[in-house]
Amino acid sequence: SSVAVLGVSFSGGQPKGGVDEGPIRMIEHGILDQIKDLGWKVDHDGRLDHYKDLEPAEDPDIGILKRPRYVGAVSKAVSEAVESHARQGQMVLTLGGDHSIGLGTVSGSTAVYGEDTCLIWVDAHADINTPDSTDSGNLHGCPISWMLGIAGKVEGFEWVQPRLKPSNLVYIGLRDVDPAEKRILREHNIKAFSMFEVDKYGIGKVVEMALDHVNPDRTKPIHLSFDVDALDPSVAPATGTPVRGGLTFREGHYICEAIAETKCLVALDVVEVNPLLGSDEASWQQTVKIGCSLVRSALGETLL
Ligand code: ARG
Ligand code: MN
Ligand code: MN
Ligand code: MN
Repeated sequence: SSVAVLGVSFSGGQPKGGVDEGPIRMIEHGILDQIKDLGWKVDHDGRLDHYKDLEPAEDPDIGILKRPRYVGAVSKAVSEAVESHARQGQMVLTLGGDHSIGLGTVSGSTAVYGEDTCLIWVDAHADINTPDSTDSGNLHGCPISWMLGIAGKVEGFEWVQPRLKPSNLVYIGLRDVDPAEKRILREHNIKAFSMFEVDKYGIGKVVEMALDHVNPDRTKPIHLSFDVDALDPSVAPATGTPVRGGLTFREGHYICEAIAETKCLVALDVVEVNPLLGSDEASWQQTVKIGCSLVRSALGETLL
């Protein structure tokens, strides 16, 4: 079987430079060969920069929203790329980039797999703000509102087809959720396992409950979108919006291993690795390395 690897060097969904260097650093660390060593055929076009061509000459704020047309155009291109690879039956691995690109990756998956698609969003944040509810205007905090069709109309996002059912979405790792986002989660009855549930039940039980919720028979296709800020900042320091009290190294890998075990994974995103952040060389390298090892776990690497 074959994995298409998309490197999305994009930072326009948030204000900090460097997250666009996540893909190149993971590739330099050897992620492509590591995936091959797990027995996959790797399809990677060697390009990481081509989304920069999509930056509009003028992209004034819309209300509080920053770079809306750029984010919309990149997500559209990502969606088309993911869709075309998934149609060929390939697993699609997207290396980010900030989490605004999740709108593109998930749209690509739902275009192919339809309303059966399950989305497991591993994150400190819910990324479900609407254009009206966001306090920051950073679109990496908003992708899920478009997937669910609750975002309203914004220039640049006319292409979006909301195909994700709220009952097919589940979160793991939440601990920094805005008040408006809490209301949205409640209103749409969206299942979320915060760090409170991880502490209460343990990660094994949490992943089982998460899978039981979205995929009780373990037959539906799973898209896993993993924001490295779900991990504790002591584990993954080089990320734009770190929040203390996160997943341990093993808890993060366990999520990937348990999802790999279902054999239902069709797409994986690893996002928000920012090699320009972190206190020193060792801290960004550690974060890049963890991005790579999460990928390997999700693609079938086992401990024994
Ligand atoms: N909720 C905050 C916001 O909307 C933070 C979002 C952080 N998102 C992320 N993908 N790291 O601005
Ligand atoms: Mn290709
Ligand atoms: Mn996120
Ligand atoms: Mn996050």
